[in-house]
Amino acid sequence: MSNQSVIVRLEAIEKIYGTGETTVHALDKVDLTIHQGEYCSIMGASGSGKSTAMNIIGCLDRPTAGAYYLDRVAVSALDKDQLAAIRNRKIGFVFQQFHLLPQMSALENVMLPMIYAGVSIEERKERAETALAKVGLGNRIDSKPTQLSGGQQQRVAIARAIVNQPLILLADEPTGALDSQTTQEVLNIFQELHDSGITVIMVTHEPEVAKQTERIVWFKDGRIVHDRLTPEEMLKVAVASV
Ligand SMILES: Nc1ncnc2c1ncn2[C@@H]1O[C@H](COP(=O)(O)OP(=O)(O)OP(=O)(O)O)[C@@H](O)[C@H]1O
Ligand SMILES: [Mg+2]
Repeated sequence: MSNQSVIVRLEAIEKIYGTGETTVHALDKVDLTIHQGEYCSIMGASGSGKSTAMNIIGCLDRPTAGAYYLDRVAVSALDKDQLAAIRNRKIGFVFQQFHLLPQMSALENVMLPMIYAGVSIEERKERAETALAKVGLGNRIDSKPTQLSGGQQQRVAIARAIVNQPLILLADEPTGALDSQTTQEVLNIFQELHDSGITVIMVTHEPEVAKQTERIVWFKDGRIVHDRLTPEEMLKVAVASV
């Protein structure tokens, strides 16, 4: 693994929300290095800083202090537009609540991220169809989100996240709204993406989900307090933290 290149490097990352008496120290000197191709889960109690860290890794937000290198680029030095450009090229996002546009078909939803990539409409369609086929929805491309089950909607969201062939797939509680069978379908897709070389980083509260990844990182009070937990250790930490 160490011969793979470093794709994410957080150095002493701090995130402070608000000012004065309402200040929240959401991240407190977080160091984290992730190599290309890793399959990583992030766990920890509610409010421990998981989403804040994901949003910084995904260039949706910027740290208050510290350095962040994404694919060896010092992104903490970039402005908003540069950040958006890097995000569009290198990052795919999946969220708990799918975030699909309801009036658009599955195909149109998946075509959306390519608007900024300067791709012709024919190629956008073709790539979106390929991505939807990859998540097993090749036969539902014309369906609207309301016509799809939760698991199918999440698969559309995954297709949308991978259509620009990102280096990193970031998923914040992607199975939080799904039943156990659908959860496993989503995890099977993540496993395939991981096998194909994409770096996958996923926030989860579910030990059964984290167990299927290759590295378990544990956040507490804005800090990483455990890294590379074994499934057994993770269960102990999970029990101790409730
Ligand atoms: N936009 C914001 N403004 C102010 N405080 C915020 C903001 N976003 C998050 N926080 C605070 O920062 C801390 C970390 O929040 P974060 O969302 O990263 O936690 P989390 O680990 O993802 O929790 P959960 O498991 O509930 O999703 C919390 O105390 C939260 O209230
Ligand atoms: Mg969160």
